Amino acid sequence: MTTLLRILRFTRSLTPYYLGIMIAAAVVTAAGLAVPFITGRVTDVIVSAVGTAADGKGAVADVAGEAIRIVVLLAIALLAVSLVEAGIGNVGGYWGDVMSAKMRTILSTRYFEQLLALPQRYYDNELTGTIVARLNRSISEITNFMKTFSNMFVTMLFTTISVLAISAYYYWPLAVLLAVAYPLYLWLTALTSRRWQRLEGEKNDHVDVASGRFAEVVGQMRVVKSFARERDELDAFSRRFESTERLTGLQSRHWHAMDALRQGVLYAIFFVLYAIIFVRTVTGYFTPGEMVMLIQLMGMARQPVMSLSWVVDAAQRAIAGSKSYFEVMDLDPVRVDGGGDRPREPRATTKPARAGDPDRPAVSFRGVHFGYDDDDVLAGISFDVAQGERIAFVGESGGGKTTITSLLMGLYGVRSGTIEVAGAGAGLEDLRRGIGVVFQEPHLFSGTIAENIAYGRPDATREEVGAAARRAAVDSFVGGFPNGYDTVIGERGVKLSGGQKQRIAVARAMLKDAPILVLDEATSALDTKSERLVQAGLEDLMRGRTSLIIAHRLSTIAEVDRIVTLRDGRIDEVGTPAELAASGGIYAELLALQGSTAKADRRRLREFEVV
Ligand SMILES: Nc1ncnc2c1ncn2[C@@H]1O[C@H](COP(=O)(O)OP(=O)(O)OP(=O)(O)O)[C@@H](O)[C@H]1O
Ligand SMILES: [Mg+2]
Repeated sequence: MTTLLRILRFTRSLTPYYLGIMIAAAVVTAAGLAVPFITGRVTDVIVSAVGTAADGKGAVADVAGEAIRIVVLLAIALLAVSLVEAGIGNVGGYWGDVMSAKMRTILSTRYFEQLLALPQRYYDNELTGTIVARLNRSISEITNFMKTFSNMFVTMLFTTISVLAISAYYYWPLAVLLAVAYPLYLWLTALTSRRWQRLEGEKNDHVDVASGRFAEVVGQMRVVKSFARERDELDAFSRRFESTERLTGLQSRHWHAMDALRQGVLYAIFFVLYAIIFVRTVTGYFTPGEMVMLIQLMGMARQPVMSLSWVVDAAQRAIAGSKSYFEVMDLDPVRVDGGGDRPREPRATTKPARAGDPDRPAVSFRGVHFGYDDDDVLAGISFDVAQGERIAFVGESGGGKTTITSLLMGLYGVRSGTIEVAGAGAGLEDLRRGIGVVFQEPHLFSGTIAENIAYGRPDATREEVGAAARRAAVDSFVGGFPNGYDTVIGERGVKLSGGQKQRIAVARAMLKDAPILVLDEATSALDTKSERLVQAGLEDLMRGRTSLIIAHRLSTIAEVDRIVTLRDGRIDEVGTPAELAASGGIYAELLALQGSTAKADRRRLREFEVV
């Protein structure tokens, strides 16, 4: 019930449609209720006319003529009623369809909106396919339910009340019996509900997990094929679905056993009802017309009960199906995130700093502690980057270099300490607008090359896209494609080579033209020649721009202003490349190793994952 109210509140804008559908259903039901009265009246007219004819009294022809006139009029009334039912019923059906479509829009966009608001931490723990499966299931089940419900609710209510009132008018024990039947049936239905829902929830979990893996496998088919794991993936997938078969068996057996019981009870009550009507007609209490009318009415009285089990079934599905949907909607982005401060505008300033303001650092980390879980990845990191300065981070693989850039972009909150970024503005959006980033993995979208380059600035002109592409040496390979910049690159750019993807990612950051530049292994996938080309473009871009650079290949950071070396989550040394080369620290060690061809040195180098 709370779920139902929740859905209604959620889709408040659809109220006119719910009302329209209900009014249409009420009209159709009222028309349906007229039918037993008309046929009852027809029966009485015919019985009396036939009876008069049999008596042989009076002007038989006159009586028959009058009776024929009345029954024809009544038949016309039947036709009118049916036409109303058909007409209004279809109007209601139309509103139902429109309502479903609108509901789909509301539920999907709200879900997407919520997903976009959820912090990075949420995505660290969820599978894409599961997120998608949840949306699809919830939408179809909630929509089906609301459609059925708004259609049947009024019909049920209206029929129940009318049937009770009419039968009470004709003979009160009928009404009493019916008044017992309804709640009894409802109670028996409610009994099945809890177990049914628990099983439905378990089934949904299996499907979600299977869908999550499914999407992952489809997305990384190359790995699956190369390691010859098709069979195993398929087996694991089908095992999940086989589990749902078993659960459905349990669920359905339970439901149908209870349904048989419910119906048995119901038919027993109707047996008594019919027996009363028949006997009372024989004893002359009801006319044959009244009997016909009451029998039809009893037929109608059964309908709400049957619809009820339909509605309950759809409601159960909707409740179970929407559970995980609402669980996601209920997530508080702040709680999921675990809190922690994000980068902010430097203190003690009244106006936002502008690039080129030399006295203030562009980026400043002060005693930053951070960990993804209980362990600290960064333990008290402090450094400043001056406006326009180029600073490089060097350290072991897994040492927290990428993590520093994630914190800079406010993807995670810090555990303690502060990060100040000049121009961070009021919100994360402002902060991120001011940072151009090339990720360690290119992360492209399925569109065209031009669309990918313009992702950070969708309004960029073709010339601007072309200029960025030239600086990132994208043009050197795009020329070979028949469709040029309009070449579709496949999901995540699968149709491109690693180095091509990386160059597009560099062009994307170049086009964004933000005051701060973050390059996380931006040229690691390139051969020496292309790297030189891209490096030249990057040097150009970095001029006068605050830049944070991570590179394993030390040749690419030889020109930076300062280097920060990291060890065990702490800063080990800070200095110019020349200073650090002479200090004997990590940088000096790596430099010696990269220049060396000795076997032992290369082994040591591999520990730093240098290519
Ligand atoms: N999303 C995440 N959730 C949990 N732990 C993470 C996450 N991302 C990184 N880590 C962990 O944090 C540590 C630092 O990772 P980070 O990616 O910052 O290293 P890195 O210095 O960039 O390494 P590399 O040079 O290999 O890119 C690693 O131990 C890693 O396992
Ligand atoms: Mg990294």
